[in-house]
Amino acid sequence: MAHRVVFVQGGGAGFDQEAAVRRVLTAAGVAIDYDVHCAGRTALDQGKDALPGTLFEAVRAAGVALKTKLLQPQGTVTPTAHGPKSPANYNLDFRRRLGLFASVRPVHNVAGLPSRFTGVNFLLVREITEDLYASSEHEIVPGVVQSFKIVTEAACLRFFRFTFELARKQGRKSIHCIHKANILKLADGLYLECFRKVAKDFPDIAAKDLIVDNTCMQLVSKPQQFEVMAAGNLYGDLLSDLGAGLVGGTSATAAVNHGDGVKVYESVYGAGYETISPDHANPLPLIFPAVEMLKDLGETAAATRIVKAVEAVLTEGKVRPADLGGSAGTAEFTEAVVGKL
Ligand code: IPM
Ligand code: MN
Repeated sequence: MAHRVVFVQGGGAGFDQEAAVRRVLTAAGVAIDYDVHCAGRTALDQGKDALPGTLFEAVRAAGVALKTKLLQPQGTVTPTAHGPKSPANYNLDFRRRLGLFASVRPVHNVAGLPSRFTGVNFLLVREITEDLYASSEHEIVPGVVQSFKIVTEAACLRFFRFTFELARKQGRKSIHCIHKANILKLADGLYLECFRKVAKDFPDIAAKDLIVDNTCMQLVSKPQQFEVMAAGNLYGDLLSDLGAGLVGGTSATAAVNHGDGVKVYESVYGAGYETISPDHANPLPLIFPAVEMLKDLGETAAATRIVKAVEAVLTEGKVRPADLGGSAGTAEFTEAVVGKL
């Protein structure tokens, strides 16, 4: 039977990535019934709502969505009666409206993608409801702007419980809580305190913590020491890009965003993808989230075959997308992957 999946199409390179994923999943023998919804600026350009209610109803009903990055409207700051305010970001609003609270980003080597390291394999788990992402910044008086870092006990406890349960399910033996509690004694102090509280219920998992600056140094020196990292919204955003850079860049990445009863498999990397000409997008930043989705849908064998096929093409090195130093278009690269399936 076909799996029902909502496909959230954000436009730009997303169109090519969608075609590639459909082709690869079909070739791998997986039947998916896609319910496609356009969102973000591309939906606006089509005269529709950027984030229509029907989209969220569909995602909640299906429980599973695959999403490309949503393009933002032109312009960065909007004037209000109280002075300039930075606008909402569609991708963040999307997370908020679905109550997505944790973004799991697997960081591991992919054969055929050059990396300075071997044996990297950790999960970066990022809290995605609060921190500096919770409120939009605003100008108080000209020359003075303000943004708030929000940390709540309830969100932290839920996030860490989720992270420990995930680590246990995956047989991972340690979690590093990443913080800056030496300076942000209240905000990151509360965060760390919640981590320690939850850790007591998981004696089988070593609960470690590390300040975020040292984490960066450790990551670029000896990334193999990490199994799971639990980070707040902003540090998690930075560390997930750092992690991607450790294992070959945006091609090696995926994000699985969790809410109550919903999972959104998201392509989040690749700034400037909206400027890529048609049929030139690298499809891997959406293929890897789709692979994560297949694992959760019970299609593990197909997921493994797709990864092996991608790795075979990358290792051969004859057909590569432009951002990996080659000249293959999206369709050409996709057909090379399909050829290995
Ligand atoms: C990510 C992205 C997003 C973020 C953007 C697209 C809003 O960079 O998920 O890592 O900053 O959270
Ligand atoms: Mn990011």
